[in-house]
Amino acid sequence: MKSLKEKYGSWALVTGASSGIGKEFAKYFADEGFNLVLVARRIERLEELAKQLKEKNNIDVISVCADLSKDDFLSLVLEKIKDIEINILVNNAGIGSSGRFETIPTEKEIDLVKLNCLAPLILTHHFVKGMIKNKKGAIIFLGSIVAFQPNPFVSTYAASKSFNLMMGSGLWYELKKYNIDVLSVSPGGTRTEFLRTGKSNSGLIVDEPENVVRTAINALGKKPSIVHGIINKTMIKLSRLLPLKYSTRLAGFVARTINKVIMFA
Ligand SMILES: NC(=O)c1ccc[n+]([C@@H]2O[C@H](COP(=O)([O-])OP(=O)(O)OC[C@H]3O[C@@H](n4cnc5c(N)ncnc54)[C@H](OP(=O)(O)O)[C@@H]3O)[C@@H](O)[C@H]2O)c1
Repeated sequence: MKSLKEKYGSWALVTGASSGIGKEFAKYFADEGFNLVLVARRIERLEELAKQLKEKNNIDVISVCADLSKDDFLSLVLEKIKDIEINILVNNAGIGSSGRFETIPTEKEIDLVKLNCLAPLILTHHFVKGMIKNKKGAIIFLGSIVAFQPNPFVSTYAASKSFNLMMGSGLWYELKKYNIDVLSVSPGGTRTEFLRTGKSNSGLIVDEPENVVRTAINALGKKPSIVHGIINKTMIKLSRLLPLKYSTRLAGFVARTINKVIMFA
């Protein structure tokens, strides 16, 4: 069987590599011998990770300090990477928001949409051109278990994750003819900073970020979309048995009762 490097090339770009799932993607690709471009705002964290990965894996690592919710982020990335072609793109960086919609500042919601939706679109649009030319490549989008139906009190976040789920799944079909593998991976609660900073509902189960990465890599090239974890998969299947109105009501009820402390803290 071909290694990931033989299949896709030698450079992977991971957004949100300064913590959580993105950091684990970076470590995974480094162990596979990929050179890396790491993007996030906390540059000192990226540089520390870059140092470790270079020493351990004897690879090249470029750290890019960029706020992906700002308009200039693509030029900051391109300035640092020059003419390097990206063979695997991981659209991982994301933030959450929760609470009653009318109480969340508009600017926060706009930044969320820019980071969670617009940045993956812009990066994918840019880097897919090289992949099409090379007739190989891979693109991973981060969905979530909340992407599969409306989720009151995390309405904007859930909608942004639906965007990633649908975008990745649509491109899986479109880009197949160029030998480009696209995957949307949807984790449930994962033990990262996200659970704290997004004031997010962790759900019943919390898993480790490295397991999410393993699930994604195992599914890449085999299917358009994967939900991480058997219980998450079952919950999504069960909720789909209900008419949307009722599954939405159920999600709202759960958010208001079980998660009240987290959501409205
Ligand atoms: N953890 C979960 O329970 C869970 C569940 C389902 C889906 N997800 C998805 O998984 C992805 C990764 O989340 P995580 O759990 O690993 O969270 P995390 O530990 O909070 O990591 C988020 C990453 O995104 C980066 N980021 C945030 N805002 C940014 C900005 N404006 N510009 C550039 N980078 C930014 C952060 O880096 P800086 O702060 O240094 O910029 C960090 O590296 C997200 O898309 C999230 O929606 C997470």
